[in-house]
Amino acid sequence: MSELISTKADLRSALDQLSGSVALVMTMGALHEGHLSLVRAAKEAADHVVVSIFVNPLQFGPDEDFDSYPRQLEADTALLDTVGVDLVFAPEESEMYPREPLVRINPGPMATVYEGTTRPIHFAGVLQVVHKVLNLVRPDVAFFGQKDAQQLALIRTMVADLDMPVQIQAVPIKREETGLALSSRNTYLGEDEYIEALALNQALALGKDAARHGSSPEQVRDVSMKYLAEAPGVKLDYLAVVDPETFEDLVEVGVPAHGRGLIITAAWVGSTRLIDNREVRFDG
Ligand code: PAF
Repeated sequence: MSELISTKADLRSALDQLSGSVALVMTMGALHEGHLSLVRAAKEAADHVVVSIFVNPLQFGPDEDFDSYPRQLEADTALLDTVGVDLVFAPEESEMYPREPLVRINPGPMATVYEGTTRPIHFAGVLQVVHKVLNLVRPDVAFFGQKDAQQLALIRTMVADLDMPVQIQAVPIKREETGLALSSRNTYLGEDEYIEALALNQALALGKDAARHGSSPEQVRDVSMKYLAEAPGVKLDYLAVVDPETFEDLVEVGVPAHGRGLIITAAWVGSTRLIDNREVRFDG
């Protein structure tokens, strides 16, 4: 059974008892198989695994789902016990933010595009909490899902720019057999919406196929965008083909030397906003 910890002081004493390397998996709870794949990768990589569960208010805008975000600590810890982790750090908001933080992480220009356009304060809040939890746990390695690709790129950039002593590892997206990317927000989808939501993965698959057959970033974007824009029940927010490291638009800046691109999309299905992405190669 993992040890459930809710204060920073208890976290420090529990960490002091551990010898060997430590891997961190940060979550907001409502755990699913996607999170467990991060935990399994963490277990492979280090002697000990710490999982944090905290619904971080700083990364939700005023009209977003902070209040309704699923909170199910008992079910989450039970699920983590099936895989086996050392520590679960699940602090209250007052423990993490005893007062409004005055010193803030500025995530820079990469946080103002795509997710950052629709969710202007999101990445500042994400980096604030990620920086804080990395400082509290001081892991050797931290695992983040490829599903939140822009978040991943920003975390890597923060760690590089601030010389933070941690290795960041990405874990591929977990999908249901239908192709839908696993997300805690999938629980909001009704039966018909679930079927409509499959269009996101289908649009990305079409784009990937086009890239495989030699299409340019613009052609890849257009084929995926057309499919999703016409998909019933789906309201497109954005679809673009970007550099996975910088989130620059490859239609504008061209294919980078590393040849990798990422088709990214966000769309509403009913009132649920979903994101997804797929890696593509443009170097033949
Ligand atoms: O990806 C998430 O679940 C969150 O953004 C994270 C990294 C746990 C920070 O709150």
